[in-house]
Amino acid sequence: MNLLKSLPCYFFILIHLLINVYAINSELSSTQNVLISKQGPKPTKLFVFGDSYADTGNIVKSHSPSWKQPYGITFPGKPAGRFSDGRVLTDYIAKSLGIHSPVPYQWRKYGRHHWHNGMNFAFGGTGVFNTDVPLPNMTTQIDLLEKLMLGESVYSKTDLQSSLVLVALAGNDYSNLSTAGGTIPEIMAFITKVVNQLALNLKRIETMGGRKIAVTSLQPLGCLPRETMDSAFHQCNETENTAAIFHNLLLQQAVAKLNNDSYGSKQVFTILDLYTSFNKVIENRGILSGASCISSIDII
Ligand SMILES: *[C@@H]1O[C@H](CO)[C@@H](O)[C@H](O)[C@H]1NC(C)=O
Ligand SMILES: *[C@@H]1O[C@H](CO)[C@@H](O)[C@H](O)[C@H]1NC(C)=O
Ligand SMILES: *[C@@H]1O[C@H](CO)[C@@H](O)[C@H](O)[C@H]1NC(C)=O
Repeated sequence: MNLLKSLPCYFFILIHLLINVYAINSELSSTQNVLISKQGPKPTKLFVFGDSYADTGNIVKSHSPSWKQPYGITFPGKPAGRFSDGRVLTDYIAKSLGIHSPVPYQWRKYGRHHWHNGMNFAFGGTGVFNTDVPLPNMTTQIDLLEKLMLGESVYSKTDLQSSLVLVALAGNDYSNLSTAGGTIPEIMAFITKVVNQLALNLKRIETMGGRKIAVTSLQPLGCLPRETMDSAFHQCNETENTAAIFHNLLLQQAVAKLNNDSYGSKQVFTILDLYTSFNKVIENRGILSGASCISSIDII
């Protein structure tokens, strides 16, 4: 039974065919240097929610192509459950914090000695709402952490207060849209609904103790290989890019409001600007200037 053979989120490995995945990785890597250069105590744990941009092996082997080649061939050297030939966002951020990449929730029983690094609840193919993969959506992922905190006392609120929380949303909620034949007003209404739910999730993580919460913006959806294939990878779909820009604008407003409402004067929430990062890599055809694209990491 291969329930997940049609996982919608293969972005990283597909991009490898188009440009150079190492370029994106090094771009993110230089971004993470910004994370550690800020003052204040460095977070000691990393908790992760989201999709394949952050999943480090939560989907069981028999159900996911992420356990097959060419995934994992450059890191860790063989397929290991990541939807990438190498590292994903989670790994880079953990590295910048000087900790091991947090153990995937699914493997927690085997990784007890790694619990002190935090835990990864991200599942490839998922969204804030249910998608076409039968896996925990973001609300359910947060439920899983809550159970570990309240039921099993694996983590305390204090743990979360000294952690970084990464929330990665690459757009699986939207993969369904075009195939479902949504009109523009329907799509805009759905984007509003997705961002509203995402904002509720962010607020909930703060209420549970999160004090440093980073959320990704959407990459230019219309420049993903699956959208540019028809033009031999030359033409981005501007309609889909506009949808991503609209999502990002609403996210920016939501995060501004959350920060305004949050505890003390500290900026709890920050946006990891994947839109700019991806665009820069695409515009430079994989050749990077070395400058970091993400400049809004002020809270870490
Ligand atoms: C761009 O994407 C939209 C929405 O997915 C789709 O309806 C449209 O046909 C695409 N345009 C092109 C030129 O492929
Ligand atoms: C995805 O599309 C299917 C069929 O068009 C629809 O039944 C389902 O509700 C959609 N899922 C979401 C999350 O919109
Ligand atoms: C920020 O908070 C203040 C005081 O609670 C409120 O008056 C103001 O409208 C808020 N601004 C935004 C952008 O939410």
